[in-house]
Amino acid sequence: MQANTSAIHFGRLSEYWELMPPEKSIFITSTTLRQRASERLPIESAGARWIEVPDGESCKRLQVLESVYHALLRFDAAPDTVLVAIGGGSVSDLAGFAAHTWMRGIELIIVPTTLLSMIDASVGGKNAIDIDCTKNVVGSFHFPTHIICEVNWLSSLSERELVSGMAEAIKHAVLDSEEHFRFFEQIADTHIPPAQLDDKTFEELIRRSQEVKLRYIKADPYDSRTRHALNYGHTFGHAIELLTGLQHGYAVAAGMGAANALAVFRHALAPVTMARIASLLRSFGLPSDIPEAFAMADRALEPEALLELIRADKKRRGKELDFAVPYGIGDVRIEAVSLDELANVVSPLSHPDSMRRKQ
Ligand SMILES: NC(=O)c1ccc[n+]([C@@H]2O[C@H](COP(=O)([O-])OP(=O)(O)OC[C@H]3O[C@@H](n4cnc5c(N)ncnc54)[C@H](O)[C@@H]3O)[C@@H](O)[C@H]2O)c1
Repeated sequence: MQANTSAIHFGRLSEYWELMPPEKSIFITSTTLRQRASERLPIESAGARWIEVPDGESCKRLQVLESVYHALLRFDAAPDTVLVAIGGGSVSDLAGFAAHTWMRGIELIIVPTTLLSMIDASVGGKNAIDIDCTKNVVGSFHFPTHIICEVNWLSSLSERELVSGMAEAIKHAVLDSEEHFRFFEQIADTHIPPAQLDDKTFEELIRRSQEVKLRYIKADPYDSRTRHALNYGHTFGHAIELLTGLQHGYAVAAGMGAANALAVFRHALAPVTMARIASLLRSFGLPSDIPEAFAMADRALEPEALLELIRADKKRRGKELDFAVPYGIGDVRIEAVSLDELANVVSPLSHPDSMRRKQ
């Protein structure tokens, strides 16, 4: 049985070289990162074995997975092979599934290169690929033995990718505590753009975020219920992402705003707390509600299309779905929410007053 924990390290990839003996290791990365990935390893001359996959979400396809299996076969990958995934969440999701299924499971090491993958995708053992247009429908749990975070990777990340990752980090702060949330408010107060934050601040931000996710994973490694709190902002967020084409974190930020509105309707969340979260999101350039997200993407907001996608949510059971309801900072609970309640948040958005807010 595979362990459901990972050792997390901070530092240069080359410092952890002994975890990846060249004769056992196969490295998988994306086209844009290949050059930089090999420069960070002291092994090029020793003839490291590399698998290169397309960039971003496009690598999470069945055809790409098949090409990974062919490469593993060519490289004589055996049960003691270590698959080292260097990249963002897309590469680690693909590699995780390949590692889980190759010879019924080989060791996986993840070297995350985006903020989102450092705080979220690399942590928790989930992996997946997409089928047709449906994201993450084929997947499994396969925990990496090691996660190696070299914060310096973030310096080449686009501002949008960085801010998108920041949304998930803010989500973790809301789940965690007042103190964690204030940590972000203090960063926001400096008015330093995310791309100019120093490595030390990033390292602290990442460590704090990982701790929150790890706490949920420890309580519920295989995502049966407690861990669903990590979906805060995602029920609306996934639908917003599909309709706007915005980066995941931007859509989740707007989804958090919508979840907060639902919680205020339920008298679970104080309006003042909703305003405080919205203000923090906006200070990082993130949308804080659904109309802001559609305005940012320059798309017309059609509430019925949004509701249709929410009705198709994987977590739906009949007329209800499990929903992460914020009661306050540090207090997000999983509760059954009816589709009518979700409609109460979305339907009024077609009102001319709310449409005016987009301009
Ligand atoms: N398994 C999980 O628990 C989990 C959790 C959250 C998200 N995810 C998945 O993660 C994926 C998104 O991952 P992501 O946000 O890390 O993005 P990504 O992996 O899709 O990468 C986004 C882009 O950034 C580029 N990139 C990566 N690192 C870079 C760097 N250091 N410098 C410059 N460019 C770089 C990539 O080549 C790509 O073009 C989605 O498929 C999502 O479903 C998985």
